[in-house]
Amino acid sequence: MCGIVGYTGSREASGVLLDGLRKLEYRGYDSSGMAVLLDGVIELRRSVGKLSRLFDEVAKRPVSGKTGIGHTRWATHGRPTEENAHPHMEGGVAVVHNGIIENYLALKEELIREGARFKSETDTEILSHLIYREIRNGARLEEAVREAVRNVKGAFAIAAISEHEPGMIVGVRVECPLIVGIGEGEMMLASDIPAILDVTRSAIFLKDGEMVTLTRDGVKLQTLRGERFHREPRHIDWSPIMAEKGGYRHFMRKEIAEQPRAITDTCRGLLLEEEGDVFLNGFDVPLIDVERVYLTACGTSWHAALAGKYIFEELFRIPTEVDLASEFRYRNPLIDKKCLVIALSQSGETADTLAAVKEVKRRGASTIAVCNVIESSLTREADWSFMTHAGPEIGVASTKAFTSQLVALYLLAVYFGRRTEKITRETGMGLIQELLKLPKKIDKVFEEEGRIEAIARKYFHSRDFIYLGRGVNFPIALEGALKLKEISYIHAEGYAAGEMKHGPIALIDEDMPVVALAPLDASYPKMLGNMEEVKARGGRLIAVINEGDSEAAARVDDVIRVPVSTPFLTPVLLSVPLQLLAYHIAVNKGTDIDQPRNLAKSVTVE
Ligand code: F6R
Repeated sequence: MCGIVGYTGSREASGVLLDGLRKLEYRGYDSSGMAVLLDGVIELRRSVGKLSRLFDEVAKRPVSGKTGIGHTRWATHGRPTEENAHPHMEGGVAVVHNGIIENYLALKEELIREGARFKSETDTEILSHLIYREIRNGARLEEAVREAVRNVKGAFAIAAISEHEPGMIVGVRVECPLIVGIGEGEMMLASDIPAILDVTRSAIFLKDGEMVTLTRDGVKLQTLRGERFHREPRHIDWSPIMAEKGGYRHFMRKEIAEQPRAITDTCRGLLLEEEGDVFLNGFDVPLIDVERVYLTACGTSWHAALAGKYIFEELFRIPTEVDLASEFRYRNPLIDKKCLVIALSQSGETADTLAAVKEVKRRGASTIAVCNVIESSLTREADWSFMTHAGPEIGVASTKAFTSQLVALYLLAVYFGRRTEKITRETGMGLIQELLKLPKKIDKVFEEEGRIEAIARKYFHSRDFIYLGRGVNFPIALEGALKLKEISYIHAEGYAAGEMKHGPIALIDEDMPVVALAPLDASYPKMLGNMEEVKARGGRLIAVINEGDSEAAARVDDVIRVPVSTPFLTPVLLSVPLQLLAYHIAVNKGTDIDQPRNLAKSVTVE
């Protein structure tokens, strides 16, 4: 779970690598490094801590050369120290690596018996030794990498350069993403799209078991068995500016602001207003055979899945189960070809979600990926993909990808509901109309930001928070609590409001802020009752309610208002103030909002 980048061309590599690493920092940020090749000599720069330390290091000790590789690390094997930071060097070969090498201990012992001396505690270092062993025996870099990788088990993407072959980078992909950027007289390699956008928007996505050799004038693609192949580059329609902060202080705040656009883009070309339907090209899911839907995901995407259950059961009228991907695959689920499994993932690289999809496919289920990254591993694995078009999400705490997932599930439910005649044309038309109004309604929520900032100032010293919701908004309470935990490090719990009196109510006192989600829906009277219970025990109530609701407003300490919508899109409108609340509390606390401690954006380890 790290980010790798490579550059060869006519510019100074160090600048391109640092810019690329900045875009990949969300993948890990406990140490970083780069190796740059000049006149047959590789120079290394590595530092512990945030990427800014590497910027400082390179500013202090500049490094020149037109070919190089870089890395930003999220430690799996070995503490975050300079010795453990990548690149790892041996005999004039430098390697960066994302992933895990499972058999590294056995390989390390073998190499030590042959006389190798190890400088780090990482699994990666065996790669530089293995590659060097082949080069010592007369192999060219390309051949040496292929041979080295043959010995290795696990999931990884690597990039290597050698002092013996200036101007060349060799990359391999085995179950971790690797993208080749095709420029004019310059080529790049990276773990994710934003890292190449300053150089090119033309990219080749490697598949598992493929390798690439880059020189400034071209790329050579081959399988790990040495079979050459050709693949046309794809045009990336993300602009470099989409991966920048665009005037905001944090990526997270920018990404919160982007939600109206992200939702509009996710719906683009899919809404058939007249027919009350959704247009999904090539989605020939055999619905006639489907008896049960499973939604699976991790983290925030799992919260979207939980909301999806309510949306699917109501609109598609089909039994729908939700599973954490990390549990699903280990519990011998009752899956067969009558099941439709929908896996949700912003990155499309989450290891547990990928493994769950592989497992259910093996058991005969049909699979759909709801994903934000084209050509990611999940989209390749699933039978069909529904792409959310939230654009690159850089802030570690997911925001726009989450609300785009909610919209994707709504669209899928309408699509399936219409195919199976569970939704009439008239109902469909109403549902589509509501969706069309959603971006403007989110804009209205932003008008509440001043009030939310004031609430944040009032409560940011609190040690604990409780979030309450009912029905489809219960998962939004979970998500609100997760956002707060992640970026402010305040302990927060989300509960189904009806569960309060079964235990959690014991926690309520005057030091406990309770965020209650109480839109004007079927559960509203019950929510009012739950809010009364909190007030009666001295709890401090912050309520997110609908515009025009004076009844709830009269009973609470603080109020945030959102426009009225259909119950199935209200979760989107409630999510936005909860994101802003977490954000402003974190601003007050002065935490590192875009890169919270101990977290990484894509969790490619199980
Ligand atoms: C929280 C967050 C994580 C991710 C989780 C799954 O803000 O971002 O909980 O939702 O790691 O990631 P994806 O959606 O990429 O599979």
